[in-house]
Order: sequence, then C-alpha cells, then structure tokens
Amino acid sequence: MNPDLFEPYDRLIEITVDGTVRNVPANNTLLRCLQYLSLESISYGDFCWNGDCLNCRVRVKAGGKEKDVIACIVKPEEGTEILSVSDEIRLEL
Ligand code: FES
Repeated sequence: MNPDLFEPYDRLIEITVDGTVRNVPANNTLLRCLQYLSLESISYGDFCWNGDCLNCRVRVKAGGKEKDVIACIVKPEEGTEILSVSDEIRLEL
C-alpha cells in the first residue's frame, strides 16, 4: 500500500463498516479510511477529494448521533459507525 496516500498516523482506530468492526488509520479522513480498506475501488472511484463533487457522502453514527458527512473532509472518531454510503462508494471488503 502506498504510504504517501495517508496522513501520518500513530495508531489504528476502530470504525464499523457493514456491521463489522474494522481498523483504519487515525488522523485520516473517512474517505481515506475507506480507501485503506478498499484500495482499488476507492482509488479508481469518481472522487474529487476536496469537497466539491459530493460523491463521497456517508451517513454515520458517532457520539450517539446520526448525521450525513462528506467523507473526504471529515475524520472519523473512534467507534464511528457507517450506516450507509453513496452509490459512488463501492467497497470491496
Ligand atoms: S470526494 Fe468529492 S466531495 Fe468528497
């Protein structure tokens, strides 16, 4: 895996994707975390990576609250649960 893709991180955090707890790099946006889990499909997906296209919308539950977030902007916290993802996000887990 190309380490240059990711912001420096000193640990992995747990998020839930598709009902399964997965370890992803801390200090990275949610889209980077999904790329970490599904490198090919996210790398070659239709994403601007800068908040413009909105193709990376994800519904999450964090801190007891559900909300829609832009995955290329928001960094997940420990325990974040991904409830649904946009059609453009195809995960090969
Ligand atoms: S990838 Fe375009 S807004 Fe997130």
